[in-house]
Amino acid sequence: MNIRVLTLFPEMFSALDHSIVKRAQDDQHVILETINFRDFSTNRHGKVDDYPYGGGAGMLLTPQPVFDAMASLPERKRRIIVMTPTGKRFSQRMAEEWANEEELVFLCGHYEGFDQRIHDQLVTDEVSLGDFVLTGGELAAMTMIDAVVRLLPDVLGASASHEDDSFSTGLLEYPHYTRPAEYKGYRVPDVLLSGNHARIEKWRREQSLKRTYERRPDLLVDASLTDEDQRYLDS
Ligand code: ADE
Repeated sequence: MNIRVLTLFPEMFSALDHSIVKRAQDDQHVILETINFRDFSTNRHGKVDDYPYGGGAGMLLTPQPVFDAMASLPERKRRIIVMTPTGKRFSQRMAEEWANEEELVFLCGHYEGFDQRIHDQLVTDEVSLGDFVLTGGELAAMTMIDAVVRLLPDVLGASASHEDDSFSTGLLEYPHYTRPAEYKGYRVPDVLLSGNHARIEKWRREQSLKRTYERRPDLLVDASLTDEDQRYLDS
């Protein structure tokens, strides 16, 4: 997959030169390119922002540098994503859809954001990380890139399957424990040491249901629940 990021702060994306996303780049599962759209400004001072028509606080990113930066890309079928608190909420389902694309372009806004003509003429997806306001789109783009890249084929080894991830099943994931079986008197639940796989599966499912019920009851509306799940929740 190709991922191109239009940003005024390309250095921020060095955060993706670590761990699994770095390995995914090294192994060419993803080719990540940052483009500083200030380089496309026709203003001799490299200006990319201006005051909003109609007044109001803050500055807006002007159309010219962004349109020209986009026009410099090769013709391709791609999603062009802008991160904004007014967008549709990002989700695991969206990450799964995007992981099937050949190319994603992330447009990172700053200040009060982009002139609306950029949204109207260039952008295919307006997406928010959640109900809070960030200073710019970069951290949101990095978060979304991380969520997509880990889903690309062969990025996580077979042993680190993501089929049980929180949200993939429609529920929050169950708790995990590793050695030692007892630490400072705190014990791992006996069932996990029992070697009884059916009991372990049942415990994990119940823990997922319990967590989801306590922390994110909204998810239960769309989760596919068995009769046994429903009996557990009713108990
Ligand atoms: N940019 C500013 N705030 C944001 C948010 N909540 N989600 C995505 N991008 C943003």
